[in-house]
Amino acid sequence: MYPRSKATSLKSRYNNDVPKNYENMAVVVALLLSLMSILMVTESTSAIFSSSDKNYMDKLCNSVIVLDGEKKPGSSFSSTSNSKYKPNTNCTLTFKTAQTTQRIITTIEKIDIADSNGATCGDYIKIYDGKFQGPILNKNLAEQCGSSTSSHVSISNVVVFHFFSNGAKEATGFKASVALHFPLVQACPQDLGVYLCTNKNCISKLLKCDGHNHCGDNSDEKICSIGKK
Ligand SMILES: *[C@@H]1O[C@H](CO)[C@@H](O)[C@H](O)[C@H]1NC(C)=O
Repeated sequence: MYPRSKATSLKSRYNNDVPKNYENMAVVVALLLSLMSILMVTESTSAIFSSSDKNYMDKLCNSVIVLDGEKKPGSSFSSTSNSKYKPNTNCTLTFKTAQTTQRIITTIEKIDIADSNGATCGDYIKIYDGKFQGPILNKNLAEQCGSSTSSHVSISNVVVFHFFSNGAKEATGFKASVALHFPLVQACPQDLGVYLCTNKNCISKLLKCDGHNHCGDNSDEKICSIGKK
């Protein structure tokens, strides 16, 4: 026999109660967002970045780093700890976002890769979107070697830096930074622990004034109080 009350309650759940469920969901989402912002703000910046300034691609060769909003919203690294990079390097460094909706801002902050004949780069830094040898973010040859800085935002939630050097001349290399971009955080308000860059990228507030261009347009490093870099 069918218990009548069960049928009724099911029916009411799918009809009358639907708006209420959405209301509850909105409250839960709001609570989660505020909790997230508290976590993001209370996390000590020094704990995050004490090691990131010592990240070298030649030491991190072929590793995968996960970026997440709370513990690691960005990073920075340079090609080598030596005065010049080594010949015959073939190395990748992969960054993934913890949430698939997040994107990655890649910025080449400094570059000195001298081995070019104008038509090809003998040595280069290429940044792939999605996977190794997938679409290239820094398509322009002038962004892969030489001395022009550049910045791009990924379309997927994975970027792969590929540094290659042949046996010919070496130079000092490059410095790069990455940052999570939160495209779904509407208006990118500071009270949620995020910072709206001039170029409209939305990054973690923790990356502001840390000495690295994480926005891509350097707007996170422009207005900083004395004492901070
Ligand atoms: C560099 O290494 C990748 C594998 O990580 C390989 O697919 C590629 O062929 C190598 N490139 C050269 C020029 O050796």
